[in-house]
Amino acid sequence: MEMSIKKKAVVLGGTSGMGQAIVEALSALGFSVVAASKKDIDTSDLESVKRFARKEQHTDILVLNTGGPPAKQFFEITETEWLTYHNQLFLGFCVLLKELAVKRNGYIFLISTHHLREPSAKLVLSSAYRLAFASVLKILSKSYAAQNITCVTIAPGPIKTARLTALKGDGLKEFEKTLPLGRAGEPREVADLIAAIVEHDIKYLNGVIINLDGGLSNCLF
Ligand SMILES: NC(=O)c1ccc[n+]([C@@H]2O[C@H](COP(=O)([O-])OP(=O)(O)OC[C@H]3O[C@@H](n4cnc5c(N)ncnc54)[C@H](OP(=O)(O)O)[C@@H]3O)[C@@H](O)[C@H]2O)c1
Repeated sequence: MEMSIKKKAVVLGGTSGMGQAIVEALSALGFSVVAASKKDIDTSDLESVKRFARKEQHTDILVLNTGGPPAKQFFEITETEWLTYHNQLFLGFCVLLKELAVKRNGYIFLISTHHLREPSAKLVLSSAYRLAFASVLKILSKSYAAQNITCVTIAPGPIKTARLTALKGDGLKEFEKTLPLGRAGEPREVADLIAAIVEHDIKYLNGVIINLDGGLSNCLF
């Protein structure tokens, strides 16, 4: 990406885990980075999303990221939870894209999940709403392309963050042994992928979903 003037990046969920690592990687590339916490923008609260968009107005790079939903099977999920995570994982991002301008030649990255391609019975909310929003971003990638804005969905497998520790508890070490590489991913590996795309300006990658799961998924595409 051409950096004669300092460019801006907005990273949602930029205060922990993958988001924080992305903030560090983009800062190292010379971006002026807004590392947004849940206090700055709560994607489950549409008024908070609109306030954030009014404050920030525009950006060169937007990283759509947020907190994950509870691990629940279909019959355990309440109507309130469906509505909360509908906003948090889907509608909040849609509203933000309508209200926050991404500049010509920019990038939009979505931090999603590898369950996009293999939905999980234990993570129904995540599987359902992330698939819905990945679909929206795929559609939008065609219209953003007219401004040379590139849309990329990253579909991470297990990554060593507070979220994974909360999901696996004391069983984390044992769980890691079951993974193809014998370990979960590092947040830095997600951040380095994004930084490499931006640094090398790989614009033709538009509209893709990239699995970053250490070979965990069984799907070919
Ligand atoms: N780690 C994994 O194995 C894994 C795998 C696949 C997908 N994912 C998904 O990837 C995303 C990031 O995961 P992570 O592991 O990096 O998570 P994390 O370490 O728990 O960080 C979550 C970040 O999101 C922010 N956040 C929480 N609730 C929010 C809300 N309602 N609105 C806006 N921001 C909110 C947090 O801000 P505060 O610091 O202010 O709380 C924090 O910065 C999550 O959606 C997660 O479900 C994770």
